[in-house]
Amino acid sequence: MPHAFISGSTRGIGRAIAAALLGSGHHVTITGRDESMVRTVVGDLARECDAEGRVRGQALDIRDRAAVDAAVAAAAAAFGGLHIIVNNAAVGRYGDVEAMGDEDWHMVMETNVSGPFFVMRAAIPFLRAAGGGWIINIASLAGPHPFAGAGAYCASKAALIALSESAMQELRGADIRVSVVLPGSTATSFSGRVADVDESWRLSPDDVATVVADLIRHPTRSLPSRVEIRPARPKKG
Ligand SMILES: NC(=O)c1ccc[n+]([C@@H]2O[C@H](COP(=O)([O-])OP(=O)(O)OC[C@H]3O[C@@H](n4cnc5c(N)ncnc54)[C@H](OP(=O)(O)O)[C@@H]3O)[C@@H](O)[C@H]2O)c1
Repeated sequence: MPHAFISGSTRGIGRAIAAALLGSGHHVTITGRDESMVRTVVGDLARECDAEGRVRGQALDIRDRAAVDAAVAAAAAAFGGLHIIVNNAAVGRYGDVEAMGDEDWHMVMETNVSGPFFVMRAAIPFLRAAGGGWIINIASLAGPHPFAGAGAYCASKAALIALSESAMQELRGADIRVSVVLPGSTATSFSGRVADVDESWRLSPDDVATVVADLIRHPTRSLPSRVEIRPARPKKG
Protein backbone atom coordinates (compact mmCIF):
# COMPACT_ATOMS: atom_id res chain seq x y z
CA MET A 1 0.00 0.00 0.00
CA PRO A 2 1.21 3.57 -0.65
CA HIS A 3 3.19 5.44 2.00
CA ALA A 4 2.17 8.96 3.05
CA PHE A 5 4.50 11.42 4.80
CA ILE A 6 2.44 14.04 6.67
CA SER A 7 4.08 17.10 8.21
CA GLY A 8 2.57 18.35 11.46
CA SER A 9 0.42 15.31 12.19
CA THR A 10 0.47 15.07 15.99
CA ARG A 11 -2.83 16.94 16.39
CA GLY A 12 -5.60 18.77 14.55
CA ILE A 13 -6.02 18.41 10.79
CA GLY A 14 -2.74 16.52 10.23
CA ARG A 15 -3.65 13.87 12.79
CA ALA A 16 -7.09 13.46 11.20
CA ILE A 17 -5.46 13.03 7.76
CA ALA A 18 -3.12 10.39 9.22
CA ALA A 19 -6.08 8.50 10.73
CA ALA A 20 -8.05 8.68 7.46
CA LEU A 21 -5.16 7.32 5.38
CA LEU A 22 -4.36 4.59 7.92
CA GLY A 23 -8.06 3.71 7.86
CA SER A 24 -7.84 3.13 4.11
CA GLY A 25 -4.81 0.86 4.49
CA HIS A 26 -1.94 3.26 3.73
CA HIS A 27 1.42 3.30 5.47
CA VAL A 28 1.92 6.66 7.21
CA THR A 29 4.85 8.63 8.64
CA ILE A 30 3.69 11.25 11.12
CA THR A 31 5.85 14.20 12.20
CA GLY A 32 5.92 17.13 14.61
CA ARG A 33 8.51 19.02 16.62
CA ASP A 34 7.61 17.44 19.98
CA GLU A 35 9.32 14.03 20.07
CA SER A 36 7.35 12.60 23.00
CA MET A 37 4.09 13.68 21.35
CA VAL A 38 5.17 11.96 18.12
CA ARG A 39 5.79 8.72 20.07
CA THR A 40 2.46 8.95 21.89
CA VAL A 41 0.47 9.65 18.72
CA VAL A 42 2.15 6.77 16.83
CA GLY A 43 0.95 4.41 19.59
CA ASP A 44 -2.52 5.94 19.70
CA LEU A 45 -3.00 5.78 15.91
CA ALA A 46 -1.70 2.21 15.75
CA ARG A 47 -4.39 1.20 18.25
CA GLU A 48 -7.24 3.38 16.98
CA CYS A 49 -6.69 2.51 13.31
CA ASP A 50 -5.59 -1.11 13.76
CA ALA A 51 -2.36 -0.02 12.08
CA GLU A 52 0.44 -1.77 14.00
CA GLY A 53 3.53 -1.80 11.73
CA ARG A 54 1.97 0.67 9.25
CA VAL A 55 2.56 3.89 11.20
CA ARG A 56 5.89 5.38 12.20
CA GLY A 57 6.90 8.75 13.62
CA GLN A 58 9.71 11.21 13.13
CA ALA A 59 10.43 14.27 15.27
CA LEU A 60 11.08 17.02 12.74
CA ASP A 61 11.16 20.79 12.51
CA ILE A 62 10.37 21.50 8.85
CA ARG A 63 12.30 24.79 9.02
CA ASP A 64 15.52 22.75 9.25
CA ARG A 65 16.48 21.91 5.65
CA ALA A 66 19.08 19.25 6.49
CA ALA A 67 16.72 17.57 8.95
CA VAL A 68 13.97 17.54 6.31
CA ASP A 69 16.28 15.89 3.76
CA ALA A 70 17.26 13.23 6.31
CA ALA A 71 13.69 12.62 7.52
CA VAL A 72 12.27 12.22 4.02
CA ALA A 73 15.06 9.79 3.04
CA ALA A 74 14.60 7.81 6.28
CA ALA A 75 10.84 7.63 5.73
CA ALA A 76 11.28 6.33 2.17
CA ALA A 77 13.77 3.71 3.39
CA ALA A 78 11.54 2.58 6.28
CA PHE A 79 8.46 1.75 4.18
CA GLY A 80 10.03 0.93 0.80
CA GLY A 81 9.37 4.24 -0.95
CA LEU A 82 7.28 7.35 -0.75
CA HIS A 83 4.04 7.99 -2.65
CA ILE A 84 2.08 10.79 -0.92
CA ILE A 85 3.30 14.00 0.72
CA VAL A 86 0.96 16.13 2.80
CA ASN A 87 2.39 19.51 3.77
CA ASN A 88 0.16 20.34 6.70
CA ALA A 89 2.39 21.86 9.42
CA ALA A 90 2.00 25.60 9.89
CA VAL A 91 1.91 28.27 12.57
CA GLY A 92 0.01 31.52 13.02
CA ARG A 93 1.51 34.67 14.51
CA TYR A 94 -0.77 37.65 14.33
CA GLY A 95 -0.44 41.43 14.41
CA ASP A 96 -0.73 44.47 12.19
CA VAL A 97 2.04 44.97 9.64
CA GLU A 98 3.10 48.14 11.46
CA ALA A 99 3.69 46.25 14.69
CA MET A 100 4.91 42.83 13.51
CA GLY A 101 8.36 41.89 14.81
CA ASP A 102 11.05 40.21 12.71
CA GLU A 103 10.90 37.02 14.78
CA ASP A 104 7.17 36.50 14.19
CA TRP A 105 7.52 37.27 10.47
CA HIS A 106 10.37 34.79 10.02
CA MET A 107 8.65 32.12 12.12
CA VAL A 108 5.55 32.24 9.92
CA MET A 109 7.34 32.43 6.58
CA GLU A 110 9.94 29.77 7.42
CA THR A 111 7.35 27.33 8.77
CA ASN A 112 4.53 27.94 6.28
CA VAL A 113 6.50 28.55 3.07
CA SER A 114 10.12 27.40 3.36
CA GLY A 115 9.12 24.22 5.25
CA PRO A 116 6.74 22.91 2.55
CA PHE A 117 9.31 23.89 -0.10
CA PHE A 118 12.04 21.88 1.69
CA VAL A 119 9.70 18.88 2.02
CA MET A 120 8.58 19.00 -1.62
CA ARG A 121 12.12 19.38 -2.95
CA ALA A 122 13.36 16.48 -0.84
CA ALA A 123 10.42 14.23 -1.73
CA ILE A 124 10.11 14.74 -5.50
CA PRO A 125 12.98 12.36 -6.42
CA PHE A 126 11.29 9.61 -4.34
CA LEU A 127 7.92 10.26 -6.00
CA ARG A 128 9.62 10.10 -9.41
CA ALA A 129 11.27 6.81 -8.38
CA ALA A 130 7.84 5.47 -7.44
CA GLY A 131 6.52 6.37 -10.90
CA GLY A 132 4.28 9.16 -9.60
CA GLY A 133 2.35 10.16 -6.53
CA TRP A 134 0.65 13.01 -4.73
CA ILE A 135 1.74 16.24 -3.09
CA ILE A 136 -1.13 17.81 -1.15
CA ASN A 137 -0.45 21.17 0.44
CA ILE A 138 -2.75 22.51 3.13
CA ALA A 139 -3.06 26.26 2.61
CA SER A 140 -6.04 28.33 3.81
CA LEU A 141 -8.87 30.54 2.56
CA ALA A 142 -6.81 33.26 4.28
CA GLY A 143 -4.50 33.12 1.22
CA PRO A 144 -6.98 34.45 -1.37
CA HIS A 145 -9.03 36.32 1.29
CA PRO A 146 -6.53 38.24 3.47
CA PHE A 147 -7.79 40.03 6.57
CA ALA A 148 -6.48 42.72 8.92
CA GLY A 149 -4.10 41.70 11.68
CA ALA A 150 -2.90 38.56 9.90
CA GLY A 151 -0.63 39.85 7.13
CA ALA A 152 2.18 37.36 7.70
CA TYR A 153 -0.15 34.34 7.88
CA CYS A 154 -2.24 35.42 4.86
CA ALA A 155 0.91 36.19 2.82
CA SER A 156 2.39 32.80 3.75
CA LYS A 157 -0.70 30.93 2.57
CA ALA A 158 -0.89 32.97 -0.67
CA ALA A 159 2.75 32.03 -1.27
CA LEU A 160 2.05 28.35 -0.60
CA ILE A 161 -0.81 28.41 -3.12
CA ALA A 162 1.48 29.94 -5.76
CA LEU A 163 4.28 27.45 -4.97
CA SER A 164 1.80 24.57 -5.24
CA GLU A 165 0.43 25.72 -8.59
CA SER A 166 3.93 26.14 -10.07
CA ALA A 167 4.88 22.66 -8.86
CA MET A 168 1.61 21.26 -10.23
CA GLN A 169 2.48 22.51 -13.72
CA GLU A 170 6.07 21.25 -13.45
CA LEU A 171 5.19 17.76 -12.21
CA ARG A 172 1.89 16.64 -13.72
CA GLY A 173 3.66 15.26 -16.81
CA ALA A 174 5.52 12.91 -14.48
CA ASP A 175 2.26 11.68 -12.89
CA ILE A 176 3.05 13.59 -9.70
CA ARG A 177 -0.25 15.25 -8.85
CA VAL A 178 -0.02 18.46 -6.82
CA SER A 179 -3.15 19.81 -5.12
CA VAL A 180 -3.59 22.66 -2.71
CA VAL A 181 -6.43 22.51 -0.20
CA LEU A 182 -7.82 25.76 1.23
CA PRO A 183 -9.82 25.12 4.42
CA GLY A 184 -11.88 27.72 6.20
CA SER A 185 -12.18 27.93 9.96
CA THR A 186 -11.59 24.50 11.51
CA ALA A 187 -12.13 23.39 15.11
CA THR A 188 -8.52 22.87 16.28
CA SER A 189 -6.20 24.56 18.76
CA PHE A 190 -4.22 26.21 15.92
CA SER A 191 -1.87 28.88 17.29
CA GLY A 192 -3.08 28.16 20.80
CA ARG A 193 -6.67 29.11 19.93
CA VAL A 194 -9.03 28.30 22.78
CA ALA A 195 -12.32 26.68 21.78
CA ASP A 196 -15.44 28.89 21.77
CA VAL A 197 -18.60 27.76 23.57
CA ASP A 198 -20.08 26.80 20.19
CA GLU A 199 -17.60 25.19 17.79
CA SER A 200 -20.28 23.28 15.89
CA TRP A 201 -20.38 25.71 12.94
CA ARG A 202 -16.67 25.23 12.16
CA LEU A 203 -15.24 22.55 9.90
CA SER A 204 -14.05 19.48 11.75
CA PRO A 205 -10.49 18.19 11.09
CA ASP A 206 -12.20 15.08 9.68
CA ASP A 207 -13.91 17.21 7.01
CA VAL A 208 -10.50 18.32 5.71
CA ALA A 209 -9.14 14.77 6.01
CA THR A 210 -12.04 13.52 3.87
CA VAL A 211 -11.05 15.99 1.12
CA VAL A 212 -7.47 14.69 1.20
CA ALA A 213 -8.55 11.04 1.13
CA ASP A 214 -10.94 11.79 -1.77
CA LEU A 215 -8.16 13.54 -3.73
CA ILE A 216 -5.96 10.46 -3.47
CA ARG A 217 -8.80 8.30 -4.80
CA HIS A 218 -9.69 10.74 -7.58
CA PRO A 219 -9.63 9.25 -11.12
CA THR A 220 -6.24 9.87 -12.77
CA ARG A 221 -7.73 11.40 -15.93
CA SER A 222 -8.36 14.72 -14.16
CA LEU A 223 -6.61 16.70 -11.44
CA PRO A 224 -8.49 18.75 -8.83
CA SER A 225 -5.50 21.06 -8.32
CA ARG A 226 -7.15 23.48 -5.90
CA VAL A 227 -9.95 22.65 -3.46
CA GLU A 228 -11.70 25.18 -1.21
CA ILE A 229 -13.67 23.90 1.78
CA ARG A 230 -15.66 26.17 4.08
CA PRO A 231 -18.33 25.78 6.77
CA ALA A 232 -21.68 25.14 5.09
CA ARG A 233 -23.41 27.41 7.61
CA PRO A 234 -21.05 30.11 8.88
CA LYS A 235 -21.53 31.58 12.34
CA LYS A 236 -24.06 34.44 12.29
CA GLY A 237 -22.93 37.92 13.30
N1 LIG B 1 -7.50 25.46 12.15
C1 LIG B 1 -7.95 26.27 11.18
O1 LIG B 1 -8.94 27.03 11.35
C2 LIG B 1 -7.29 26.26 9.82
C3 LIG B 1 -7.96 26.93 8.75
C4 LIG B 1 -7.36 26.93 7.50
C5 LIG B 1 -6.15 26.29 7.30
N2 LIG B 1 -5.53 25.66 8.35
C6 LIG B 1 -4.24 25.02 8.07
O2 LIG B 1 -4.36 23.63 8.38
C7 LIG B 1 -3.09 23.14 8.81
C8 LIG B 1 -3.22 22.43 10.14
O3 LIG B 1 -3.77 23.32 11.08
P1 LIG B 1 -4.30 22.84 12.51
O4 LIG B 1 -5.35 23.80 12.89
O5 LIG B 1 -4.58 21.39 12.49
O6 LIG B 1 -2.98 23.15 13.39
P2 LIG B 1 -2.49 22.56 14.82
O7 LIG B 1 -3.60 21.87 15.53
O8 LIG B 1 -1.77 23.70 15.48
O9 LIG B 1 -1.41 21.45 14.38
C9 LIG B 1 -0.22 21.85 13.76
C10 LIG B 1 0.70 20.65 13.63
O10 LIG B 1 1.92 21.11 12.99
C11 LIG B 1 3.04 20.80 13.83
N3 LIG B 1 4.07 21.82 13.60
C12 LIG B 1 4.02 23.15 13.87
N4 LIG B 1 5.17 23.74 13.52
C13 LIG B 1 5.98 22.77 13.00
C14 LIG B 1 7.28 22.75 12.47
N5 LIG B 1 8.05 23.86 12.40
N6 LIG B 1 7.80 21.58 12.03
C15 LIG B 1 7.05 20.45 12.11
N7 LIG B 1 5.81 20.39 12.61
C16 LIG B 1 5.27 21.55 13.06
C17 LIG B 1 2.45 20.73 15.25
O11 LIG B 1 3.21 19.94 16.15
P3 LIG B 1 4.40 20.63 17.06
O12 LIG B 1 3.84 21.92 17.58
O13 LIG B 1 4.73 19.61 18.11
O14 LIG B 1 5.53 20.83 16.08
C18 LIG B 1 1.11 20.05 14.97
O15 LIG B 1 1.30 18.66 14.79
C19 LIG B 1 -2.16 24.35 8.82
O16 LIG B 1 -1.45 24.42 7.59
C20 LIG B 1 -3.11 25.53 8.93
O17 LIG B 1 -2.55 26.72 8.42
C21 LIG B 1 -6.08 25.62 9.60
